Amino acid sequence: MSTPTNRRIVAGNWKMNTTPTEGAALAQGVIEQAGSPSGKVIFGVPAIQLVKIKEIVAGANGYFVAAQNMHEADKGAYTGEHSAAMLADAGVDYVILGHSERREYNGEDDSLIHEKIIKALDHGIMPIYCCGEKLDIREANNQEMVVGKQIERALSSLSEEQMSKVVIAYEPVWAIGTGKTASPQQAQDMHAFIRRMISDAFGSGVAENVSILYGGSVKPANAEELFGMADVDGGLVGGASLDAESFAAIIKA
Ligand code: 13P
Repeated sequence: MSTPTNRRIVAGNWKMNTTPTEGAALAQGVIEQAGSPSGKVIFGVPAIQLVKIKEIVAGANGYFVAAQNMHEADKGAYTGEHSAAMLADAGVDYVILGHSERREYNGEDDSLIHEKIIKALDHGIMPIYCCGEKLDIREANNQEMVVGKQIERALSSLSEEQMSKVVIAYEPVWAIGTGKTASPQQAQDMHAFIRRMISDAFGSGVAENVSILYGGSVKPANAEELFGMADVDGGLVGGASLDAESFAAIIKA
């Protein structure tokens, strides 16, 4: 495996799946089956499960918990939302921001996502920033322009210190939940492009340490080949993270 251990992350995004009872069993099952991971493993869980899953990962080396969203305001009359302070107090380590499903169904754009990134960092929560192009963009071969703009809008005004806390997840929208995976070379090309952008904006030290994860139909059958690419540091896994055996296999890939 070519990825340096400090960059290696396998994160599960459970999305709106699992009850609290099911989620606790899933996290425990993964920890039992995958054991002590190389690098980090993150469970991205529904908000109602954050406290419980944090208790579970607190006893396991290398395991962390992520929220799937966070509001940008400090507090106030935002019914149904969760603030960075709430997540931090609950012991949440990471927050997934900018997922394509939130861009699509909740109208989130990179300027809002940028605000959320800053707020999370202010509270010591590490953002997992998701970017990625839709199918028509890929077919027109404009993916670098589109992903480049996403990265620029969301991340370019961060300080070096702030950027060193950010994880990037490249998730081509056409590969999410479709069973269609980017080829290892397509993933590598985009990850290398993103790392060059980070290097140009923040310097090679930050770029060499930033974790860039691939997301989109990662499965036990393709994880090893994807993660074997030089700039693919691990994965953000949806469907296959909902089964302890398959997620453990991906962690071990
Ligand atoms: P799938 O692994 O189900 O394609 O989902 C990927 C994803 O959206 C992770 O955030």
